[in-house]
Amino acid sequence: MAKILFLVASLLIFSNIFVAYSAFPPSLIVDIAKILLDNYCSPEKMVGMQQAIDAASTNTEILSIPDPETMANVLTAGVQSTINDPRLKITHEPEYSPVVAPQMPPLPPEQLIAVLQSSIKLDILDGNIGYLRIDHILAEDVAEKIGALLLELVWNKILPTTALIFDMRHTSSGDITGIPYIVSYFTDAEPLIHIDSVYDRPSNTTKELWSMSTLLGERYGTDKPIVILTSRNTNGIAEDVVYCLQHLKRATVVGEKTAGGSVKIDKIRVADTDFYITVPTAKSVNPITGATWEVKGVTPNVEVNAEDALATAIKILNIRAQVPAIIEGAANLITEKYAFEAAGDEVAEKLKVLLATGAYNTVNSKAELETKLSADLKSLSGDKGLKTTSNIPALPPMNYTPEMFIELIKVSFHTDVFENNIGYLRFDMFGDFEEVKAIAQIIVEHVWNKVVNTDAMIIDLRNNVGGPTTAISGFCSYFFDADTKILLDKLHDRPSGTTKELWTLPELTGTRYGTKKSLIILTSGATAGAAEEFVYIMKRRGRAMIVGEPTSGSSHPAETFRVGDSDVFLAVPTVHSDNTAGPAWEGTGVTPHIPVAAEAALGTAKAIFNKHFGGQK
Ligand SMILES: *[C@@H]1O[C@H](CO)[C@@H](O)[C@H](O)[C@H]1NC(C)=O
Repeated sequence: MAKILFLVASLLIFSNIFVAYSAFPPSLIVDIAKILLDNYCSPEKMVGMQQAIDAASTNTEILSIPDPETMANVLTAGVQSTINDPRLKITHEPEYSPVVAPQMPPLPPEQLIAVLQSSIKLDILDGNIGYLRIDHILAEDVAEKIGALLLELVWNKILPTTALIFDMRHTSSGDITGIPYIVSYFTDAEPLIHIDSVYDRPSNTTKELWSMSTLLGERYGTDKPIVILTSRNTNGIAEDVVYCLQHLKRATVVGEKTAGGSVKIDKIRVADTDFYITVPTAKSVNPITGATWEVKGVTPNVEVNAEDALATAIKILNIRAQVPAIIEGAANLITEKYAFEAAGDEVAEKLKVLLATGAYNTVNSKAELETKLSADLKSLSGDKGLKTTSNIPALPPMNYTPEMFIELIKVSFHTDVFENNIGYLRFDMFGDFEEVKAIAQIIVEHVWNKVVNTDAMIIDLRNNVGGPTTAISGFCSYFFDADTKILLDKLHDRPSGTTKELWTLPELTGTRYGTKKSLIILTSGATAGAAEEFVYIMKRRGRAMIVGEPTSGSSHPAETFRVGDSDVFLAVPTVHSDNTAGPAWEGTGVTPHIPVAAEAALGTAKAIFNKHFGGQK
């Protein structure tokens, strides 16, 4: 209310500053205010206007801005900022004659066809994608009159396509009665959908728009993907159609944010002057969102420049066309390869249900598909190792010189000898057996020999993220004796259906630590994969005390598979530890003997050893 008073008052005061000749009727501002009061689509913003008008009416000051254009601009700025609506405009147009809504002329059929062909563009693109561009949304009665022709020339050609690009980048006019029938061609006959509620201010009534149960011709239905192209020129009724189909989740909108117009804009003459005020007289409220696209426009799902929208839409539809094969391919791979058979079957089944229920219908790019598939696999399986992955080929083996190896090993391993001759060994990744074997002598010299002669050892795996499991037997063997062969684990390989036994090795490079000296292994929630397998074996064999946090609960290293002939790759754990006597560590992690926070684990381990060895002295 204060704002409205301010509008009227400030304009009146403004007029006092200029002392010119009387160019405008004194009632101009009051007349504009009255028009707004009776016609502006959001009457709640008009509270107080009536009092303002009454107050202003007693003021007989003459507006003294000398030229009408300036006056129109001043009034426009005042009205826009006061009501905070950029759609309001005051113009001075002595030549203006109101446009009469064009009647559909009784054209002979050939001419009607020509008119339709020039206002509707139609194409069938590669991949059986329909392309339909409509620049004006016809009123329902007009569309009905020429319905048979529309069907024959346009719609029946679009119907057999497998996807549709609906180009509304140039649609800036239309009739409100056209909204329900356009939307209805892309929805089901039942149940009827409440599309829009339009409040009309002059009549002070609200009209609900509903989808239609009967239509001429067939519906496009709800299964085939639709992309709507938009630009900043997509305006009014077209925006309503876009917003509605977007929020019904029936179409993906690609392009620019739309104009933010109105369902109904009227141009009203101010009394008998040459001034006109352009006013939105009706307001759309979408029943799904409870909000409107007016003023702020429709924000596309994928925002690109209008000129790039078509190419983007084609890309989106191409990836959507591949989605079913990729999801089914992924499900099949999991059924065939995943380490845990029963769990794999269940994941594959649920994945297919997600596909069938449309969970992948809104994917807009390969990257989005991969992200969603990965997230679904993780949540369905609970296995962090089962996911999409890039297929970056492994780096070719480097030709390291012995000096380079030594440097590499120095940064990969940390060793120390603490008081009471307690050794400390930290490494953050397991290596492949063949690679490690080749440089075993260097590791022994530069790492192992620094800690092998200690009285007890702390192995720090708190930051160890895993790696290949091929070197685990070898590494474990250093902590057992040469004369007794010990079965460490049985690894079941799903794709081949074989089980491999992991035994300690009889021969090793360098000296063994043996079974007699105490070991503590430090763990954290980040300890994963091969590191967990090592912790699990050492705990199960009673060879080490575990101090720290439960380990990650990941899985044996995954293998990478291409999904069908797509460019999507899946990482699938194919091997699992012996679970004949109950679950191993996969998915659940290894529980430490002494649970402490990862940061406190080293201190705890040292204290345990110091108490033991210090007490002996
Ligand atoms: C509009 O109609 C409602 C009743 O339907 C009435 O309460 C309200 O005052 C009317 N508003 C205006 C601005 O006439």
